[in-house]
Amino acid sequence: MAYIVVATSNAHKVDEYRKLLADQNVELKSLLDYPGFPGVEESGATFAENASIKALAACKYCDVPAFADDSGLEVEALGGRPGVFSSRYAPTDPERIAKLLKELEGCENRKARFVCAIAIAVNGEVIETFEGTVNGVITSSPRGEGGFGYDPVFQPDGYDQTFGELSQEVKNQISHRAAAFRKALEFVEDEMSVLDNEF
Ligand code: IMP
Repeated sequence: MAYIVVATSNAHKVDEYRKLLADQNVELKSLLDYPGFPGVEESGATFAENASIKALAACKYCDVPAFADDSGLEVEALGGRPGVFSSRYAPTDPERIAKLLKELEGCENRKARFVCAIAIAVNGEVIETFEGTVNGVITSSPRGEGGFGYDPVFQPDGYDQTFGELSQEVKNQISHRAAAFRKALEFVEDEMSVLDNEF
């Protein structure tokens, strides 16, 4: 079976990707399997740049094909913030949510979107990047215990529940990560030889 490393140590993300890959003949490893990975600075100005930096570093360190995502929340009324700084917006998820709701207090425009870029690196080179988005609104207070990050305050268009309330199955069908991943998967299926590392 071919295998690929996803350049993340976020167990939630690994779990989402493992479910997305369930029907594929590919084994997914992650940086949780490579605890010595030194980490990289996400110094890019865009999601695609950051995904590329991470995929390349993992590919070189693990010496196998790797992919990485970089994702975040863009809020229209905040001119697209927190964007690539979504994870650095405040120290913890509850603080990030509180800060966001405070910034949007009294604001009628609640439109936001999650964006995810995925980069695939093979043989020490980034060979392709893909982007997926999901549009929605920021709710007035957090709802639901599921997911992670900004999920409890993000309600995708067409749903009455937040990502924190929706099941992971539903989130996996409509999320920015799923959309980017579908594009990446189509590419890999067409070019399966890029994962030429059967063992
Ligand atoms: P990164 O892609 O690991 O750099 O994470 C970016 C940050 O964006 C995360 O720490 C979360 O705060 C936020 N984020 C990205 N994707 C999601 C999601 O699916 N749900 C909730 N928050 C997310």
